[in-house]
Amino acid sequence: MSRKRFPDATPAQLDAEADRLADAGLAELGYQEPELERLAKLTWRINGLKRATKAVIPAHVYQRAEIVKGVADFVGDSYKLAKDCAAVSAERIVFCGVRFMAETAKILNPAKEVLLPAKEAGCSLADSITAKDLRALKARHPGVPVVSYINTTAAVKAESDVIVTSANAKKILAWMYERHRKVIFAPDAYMARNLARELGKEVGRDMVVWDGKCIVHENFDAGAVTLYRRMYPGVEILAHAECSPALVQSVDFVGGTGDMIKRVKESKAPAFMLVTECGLGDYARTVLPQKKFIPMCRLCPHMRATELERILLALEDPQPSQRIEVPAAVAAAAKRSIERMFEIAEDRATY
Ligand code: 13P
Ligand code: SF4
Repeated sequence: MSRKRFPDATPAQLDAEADRLADAGLAELGYQEPELERLAKLTWRINGLKRATKAVIPAHVYQRAEIVKGVADFVGDSYKLAKDCAAVSAERIVFCGVRFMAETAKILNPAKEVLLPAKEAGCSLADSITAKDLRALKARHPGVPVVSYINTTAAVKAESDVIVTSANAKKILAWMYERHRKVIFAPDAYMARNLARELGKEVGRDMVVWDGKCIVHENFDAGAVTLYRRMYPGVEILAHAECSPALVQSVDFVGGTGDMIKRVKESKAPAFMLVTECGLGDYARTVLPQKKFIPMCRLCPHMRATELERILLALEDPQPSQRIEVPAAVAAAAKRSIERMFEIAEDRATY
C-alpha cells in the first residue's frame, strides 16, 4: 500500500494536542512538557490518519499511557477488546496489544485489515503451547473437553472447545463441570490451580493442566505481601489471576484487569496495591485520581513493544510483518470456540 500523506500540524494545533494529552492524564502520571510536545506530534498525526483511513485503534489496558490516552478508540481487558472488535465497523484495526489479541480481532473480522504495530509482541503463555502439543494432550485424554485461555495462538484456539479470559474463566469452567467430570485447561498453570481451588476441583483428578506461565505475573513474590501490609496499614492488595497460588491466597482480591479496576472503584480502602503489569496502575491513576495507589508492578516486554512511532508506521505504510493473517480453516474453528465463550459468559448458550 502506498504511503499515506497527512499534513503537518501548525504550532497552535500541536500546543492544543499537548494540552489534550496532559489533561487526559499524562500530566497526572508525571509526563513533562518536552515529552508531551514530542508525543503530541505523533498522536496528532496518528489520529488524523486514523480518521482519514477509516481505522480503529483498540488498546489493552497494559499499553503505554500515551497510547491508551492519546490514540486508542477503546481500551479494556481481553474480553472487552474481543467484544468491541467483534462489533467494529471500521475498515482497518490497528491493534495495540499482543499478537494473540490481534489474531482474535482478525478471527472475528476476517475481511478487515488487522495490523499489529510491533511484530515481536508475543506472550509467554501463548508461546508455551502449540496446536500439536494440544492435539497430543487431547489424544492422551480422549473425550475430555478443552478450555483454553485467550492467551493462545489461533491454531490452539482452533483445537479448543471454548475460550476463556480472566473475566469469565471461573463461570465458564463451572459451566463445563456441570456437564463433564474432567476438563483440560491450558496453558496457564497458575490460573488453572487458582481456579481449581476456587471451584473445589483437584488438579490431576478433575483438571488436566499445561505448564505455561506469564513471565510478568510468575515473578511477583508472595512472601512480600506480609511486609507490604506492615508498611502500608489498611492497604487493599489486588492481584491478577495469573499470579502464583501462594500469592493469590495472601491478597485481598483476585481477578482480571477489568475486575481489578471495578473493585478499586467500589472499595473504600485508604490505598490500593495492584499486583500486575504497570500499565494497569497508570490507567487506574488517570481514571481514579482521587484514589491512592502504592506502586507495585512489573513491565511486560511484549506489551511495551508497541510505541507511537510503530503505530504511525502501521497507518502510513503498513509493513507485511505488521499484517495479521490467519488461515481460513483455522480462523473458522477458532471463531467457534470464541463465540462459545461469548454465549456462555452472557448466558446465551443453548446446548
Ligand atoms: P486481562 O486484561 O484479560 O485480565 O488479561 C491480562 C493479560 O494477560 C494480558 O496480557
Ligand atoms: Fe503475556 Fe503476561 Fe505479557 Fe500478558 S503480561 S502479554 S500474559 S507475558
